[in-house]
Amino acid sequence: MASQFLLLAFLAITCSVALAADPSSLQDFCVAERTSSVSVNGHVCKDPKFVGADDFFFSGLHLAGNTSNPAGSRVTPATVAQIPGLNTFGISLVRIDYAPMGINPPHTHPRATEILTVVEGSLEVGIVTSNPENRLISKVLQKGDVFVFPVGLAHFQRNVWNSNAVAIAALSSQNPGAITLANAVFGSKPDISTDVLAKAFQVEKDIVVDFQAKF
Ligand SMILES: *[C@@H]1O[C@H](CO)[C@@H](O)[C@H](O)[C@H]1NC(C)=O
Repeated sequence: MASQFLLLAFLAITCSVALAADPSSLQDFCVAERTSSVSVNGHVCKDPKFVGADDFFFSGLHLAGNTSNPAGSRVTPATVAQIPGLNTFGISLVRIDYAPMGINPPHTHPRATEILTVVEGSLEVGIVTSNPENRLISKVLQKGDVFVFPVGLAHFQRNVWNSNAVAIAALSSQNPGAITLANAVFGSKPDISTDVLAKAFQVEKDIVVDFQAKF
């Protein structure tokens, strides 16, 4: 009898550990109250009495983004910045437009895994694994294909179609963030010292200065 009790207690403890997860939401929603001066990790909740449909709504993902820029792409976000009702829910959406041969340059999302689907055209996509392998995993996607970019990994897309391409991607954060590698390295304000970058990239300092001028 005692040994059966011990076994049950052991199972209960083991199961509770195995089922551990983030605490679930304590309320139906926590719509972001942007006017609050209180600083929390995310946004404080708006009084639910004043929450309405527009707090959960965004319109505009049917509109093509302006791709007249050096990369030839445009990301139109639908994150907590556009939809206050996304606060605390760990999810968001973007539309990405690509001019012919346009690229979404190598970047990472510090807080989100991304799942992308091609709505129009054909995209070459790639991810690079972390050190020490730095292995490129890439594929050409057609309309309707889906690809996953794991959280934190550098990734990119290129339109390999002779017309505009469009993708929709979901991200596992209300505020995924984006670190575009070239901008972070060569476009920081103030500049990272040319000596650091010349050694990091194993090139002459004037090449670094050229890159810094571009970003
Ligand atoms: C697109 O962006 C370019 C460059 O910023 C700008 O000159 C052009 O007017 C924009 N086009 C539209 C339709 O907004």
